[in-house]
Amino acid sequence: MSNPKIIMNNLDDVIKSLELKTLRVCVIGIGRIGLPTALSFAKSGLNTIGVDINKKLIDNINSGKFPLKDEPGYGEIFDSVLENKKFSATTKIEDAVPTSDLILLSLPTPMDENNVPDYSALRSVASQLSNLLSPNSLVIVESTIEPGFIEDEMVSIISSSEKLEVGKNFFIGVCPENANPGEILHDFTNLPRLVGGINKDITDIIKKIYNFVFSVELVEMPNCKTANAVKLTTNVFRDINIAFVSELSLMFEKIGIDTNKVLEAAKKKYNFQVHYPGAGVGGPCLPINSYQLLNTAKRLGSNLSIIESGRKVNEKMPQHVIELTLNAFNQCNLSIENSSILILGISYKPNVKDIQLTPAEEIINKLKNLGAKIHIYDPYFKEMDVFGFKAEKNIDAMISEMDAAIIVTGHDEFKNIDITTFSKMKNSILIDTRGIIDPLLAKNNELIFRGLGRG
Ligand SMILES: NC(=O)c1ccc[n+]([C@@H]2O[C@H](COP(=O)([O-])OP(=O)(O)OC[C@H]3O[C@@H](n4cnc5c(N)ncnc54)[C@H](O)[C@@H]3O)[C@@H](O)[C@H]2O)c1
Repeated sequence: MSNPKIIMNNLDDVIKSLELKTLRVCVIGIGRIGLPTALSFAKSGLNTIGVDINKKLIDNINSGKFPLKDEPGYGEIFDSVLENKKFSATTKIEDAVPTSDLILLSLPTPMDENNVPDYSALRSVASQLSNLLSPNSLVIVESTIEPGFIEDEMVSIISSSEKLEVGKNFFIGVCPENANPGEILHDFTNLPRLVGGINKDITDIIKKIYNFVFSVELVEMPNCKTANAVKLTTNVFRDINIAFVSELSLMFEKIGIDTNKVLEAAKKKYNFQVHYPGAGVGGPCLPINSYQLLNTAKRLGSNLSIIESGRKVNEKMPQHVIELTLNAFNQCNLSIENSSILILGISYKPNVKDIQLTPAEEIINKLKNLGAKIHIYDPYFKEMDVFGFKAEKNIDAMISEMDAAIIVTGHDEFKNIDITTFSKMKNSILIDTRGIIDPLLAKNNELIFRGLGRG
């Protein structure tokens, strides 16, 4: 079958195709978010094909190797949809798109070294779709994009072949992804999703389709750009609030106030939403999302000074960690040069295996430039090569050779380390950037302790 029979702006047609499970789905970009998305569509009984440019990933998937081992629940779904042939994967977009009715885009939207958002994957696929899309197909963009990107760019790129006209014989909408790595199945089955289409009919149709696959609340937006604005607003809210408490914590340090105590008490007030200070904000979402909104503002000649200031604060937190470390070394009359420093945690957030834009990298590089000998321990990267070092298998075997330890990520495992472990170091310097060590306990164990924001 080369042409889709289903008219994707006809609600009755779409409902029938869901009931009969004849709707054919293609997910382009089957990485961290796209693969679980494709598997969920396949599990609902719809024939689903995943497309990716990463040949090794495709080969692994087609030979039954599930690549996302840290996503609970999806390994079993992967095995079952592969076995019942509801899901397969290919590098050949030219085969998959023309025979599909619904095209989901879960392509990366990173930023370059100058913090400029990079939409090249979406632009490149949109230009392929302009030739490959069958008439009456529906495209849904799940990637995180700036408000207006669909209306101002995607539509005109897809329409460039002139055989396709938006709203007439091709349809487009958004349903931004909002799942957390490591908890995608939980989030896909619990968190509300935003839906926006190029018109109300398409929004209703997207809601029907997602309702068929995910039993979560679908929040109807007036258009695509509003849905994307909501997605960015929720993440940038967090980026700014982390910056706010981080900046406060720098001042509290100076006057001997423990930021943890402030926050624990403040959160008792009904309208205070707590965020915590730390070594910096990384990951594939928050920093990029702030720069996406700043990019929109630049384009429109608007001023988003609070986001800009927040970014500056968050980006200087790794340097503050270095200053705390130097301060502790000075207290011991020790030079950081040739000292051995253990970095505890490299993930950008607790309890996940993910180092995208992690502040740990900058901290490690700065310490390396000061001549320190770096050792890394992270329960998610045992014995793996990261940032030019081989991560340790455990702490116990090498702790006695360390001068200092810096807790960079608040993994649960670190909350359970016996404090006396740090007393075994050559020089008992402990820097806690995540507020997980009780300063009094550190003092009672005669550690040279610096807690970020702890006074
Ligand atoms: N990971 C998260 O925590 C998260 C959460 C919410 C939203 N998002 C958003 O979801 C989107 C996807 O993120 P991700 O984390 O899944 O990214 P990812 O890098 O894990 O996956 C993207 C996939 O797209 C593939 N790809 C790149 N260019 C391609 C092309 N031209 N054609 C086909 N395939 C191509 C890559 O090979 C990769 O497998 C991004 O917009 C991101 O901001 C991510």
